[in-house]
Amino acid sequence: MRFDVVTFGSAVVDVFVDTDIAEKGKFMCYPVGAKILLKNLKFDIGGGGTNTAVAFSRLGFKTGYIGKIGDDTDGQTILKLLKKEKIKFLGKIKKNAISGYSIILDSRAHNRTILTYKGVNETLELDEIKKFSTRWLYCSSFLGKSLETQKKLANILAKKGTKIAFNPSLYLIKRTNLLPLLKITEILIMNKEEAELLCKKNKVKGKNLLLRLHSLGPRIVVITDKNNPIKCYDGKNKYSLKPNKIKVKERTGAGDAFASGFVAGQIAGKSISESLKLGLKESESVIRYFGAKNNLIRMKLK
Ligand SMILES: Nc1ncnc2c1ncn2[C@@H]1O[C@H](COP(=O)(O)OP(=O)(O)OP(=O)(O)O)[C@@H](O)[C@H]1O
Ligand SMILES: [Mg+2]
Repeated sequence: MRFDVVTFGSAVVDVFVDTDIAEKGKFMCYPVGAKILLKNLKFDIGGGGTNTAVAFSRLGFKTGYIGKIGDDTDGQTILKLLKKEKIKFLGKIKKNAISGYSIILDSRAHNRTILTYKGVNETLELDEIKKFSTRWLYCSSFLGKSLETQKKLANILAKKGTKIAFNPSLYLIKRTNLLPLLKITEILIMNKEEAELLCKKNKVKGKNLLLRLHSLGPRIVVITDKNNPIKCYDGKNKYSLKPNKIKVKERTGAGDAFASGFVAGQIAGKSISESLKLGLKESESVIRYFGAKNNLIRMKLK
């Protein structure tokens, strides 16, 4: 089967814990020994791999997902979601293993701290992936064995003409050398903090963050910065797009929504400006509601 896009990243069950805790500076403080009453509790499926797969599939692309889950009830819930969203599972279900799980603690101001258990997410081997071909491979953050597998697969597929999109997270940049993967990356999307760390780590100097990132290899680089303008550079022109003022309900999944929207635009052959607008629209749609993927856009892009 030939896919338009295959996403490679985590799958987790998310539990959203809505608290009335006020923030103190950069911290959310829970007194030791206290019992904290929760305002609300919601369950959903998250993880960069499944969030972005749902985004692509809803836009009409033939979509596959690579990841690893346990054979527990959470694993079943994840598979059910993939099926409902018409996404082909190309990864591995591991016997007697616990699927990934995240607890998202929301403050009164709707900022959050995430406690995450990666579980089997970090143990995927190359021979556990089903055979397939794809126009695009979308890599979201993975650690451990799964990251090594992701790098190997990206190399194999890039040689066959697959284009690579990459959205690495802060912990990935801190812990690993991403240079080989960046050299074969078509689209690199990061937030400002991640972009700065990546340049610092690789000692890329210069005034402009976009140009510094671009010098590491990717053909197109995009830097998001919360509600500040999104910046993009394609080796020729620089672009900027300012997010609208919107009421943020729960911001988990904003980055995934933006990145998958932008990449979807590029897969569909749209201009950079149009792709940025699609990314913005996806991210705004997601942060207006609970959950990382509930409100991803349904529309035929292809
Ligand atoms: N407060 C906000 N108001 C409006 N838009 C926002 C806000 N926060 C995020 N966005 C939208 O989401 C996009 C991505 O957000 P951000 O730069 O925070 O990504 P991120 O740090 O990668 O997110 P994540 O934590 O989900 O990985 C922004 O470019 C913007 O379009
Ligand atoms: Mg992000």
